[in-house]
Amino acid sequence: MGEAAFEAAPAKINLALHVTRRREDGYHDLESLIVFADIGDDLTAEAADADSLAISGPFAEGLGAGPTNLVLRAVAAFRARWPELSPPGLKLHLVKNLPVASGIGGGSADAAAALRIMVALSSGPVPVPELLDLAAGLGADVPACLLSRPLVARGVGEILSPLAQFPQLYITLVNPKVPVSTPDVFRRLRAHDNYPLPALPEPLTRPAQLGLWLNETRNDLQPPAIKLVPEIGVIVDELAEAPGVMLSRMSGSGATVFGLFGSEGQAHDAASQMRKLHPDYWVGTAPVLGVS
Ligand code: C5P
Repeated sequence: MGEAAFEAAPAKINLALHVTRRREDGYHDLESLIVFADIGDDLTAEAADADSLAISGPFAEGLGAGPTNLVLRAVAAFRARWPELSPPGLKLHLVKNLPVASGIGGGSADAAAALRIMVALSSGPVPVPELLDLAAGLGADVPACLLSRPLVARGVGEILSPLAQFPQLYITLVNPKVPVSTPDVFRRLRAHDNYPLPALPEPLTRPAQLGLWLNETRNDLQPPAIKLVPEIGVIVDELAEAPGVMLSRMSGSGATVFGLFGSEGQAHDAASQMRKLHPDYWVGTAPVLGVS
């Protein structure tokens, strides 16, 4: 039986992340400018008698392929919600290229890719608002990953405003290979009522416009994450020295740090420099995915 479907699971990068409120349910309201990079995990599916998952790739080790894996949970949730639209069993294969628990999507991007595969193989149209709802039930970042385009996320991550334009940018990602627990970082957060994101410039077409805007923003999770993993602070400082860098900051709850560039060559140079400084770290570089 041949391959039935393929979906990329691009890395998610929080260019800015402001935590605005701690909610009664323990989650936090936030406002985040999120983009995706053309680098990530790969998910393929072929028809089979029953659902199964196999994982390979540089970061496959230590990642369970059982029913609690977000890929299988996403498939099961889709089947439960739309049994009549769902394809027969799927043999899924995840190539794990990105470090696990690293602030750049990981399991959320994989779950979103699994949902896109289910949509691609479904026997009829799947209503997008309900699909986004189902995605939010799997994890706060899964709705954003489902769209995988530049957007502002609000609420716990489920209220999405896709951007109409976005400049062409390039990103360099550096991870010290220390996994970070998201709940641990949120627990160490001191202030929960920071100011919201400033309004984005419109139209947003030039890197310099975004650079100015980003200077007015933060990742509120960066200080508590640096307390847990001091290497994060070192990488932020090192990437801030890279020629042409617009911004150097941690993504999500860490530990991955990104450098943002208007030039592909400068992003590559920064990646080479970081590989030289830290041969044991994971370093990636890629274009930022645009609006279409
Ligand atoms: O939804 P997800 O599983 O990605 O979230 C992991 C944990 O991160 C949650 O259990 C919660 O402790 C914390 N979190 C939060 N506020 C958010 C997103 C996540 O407090 N907006």
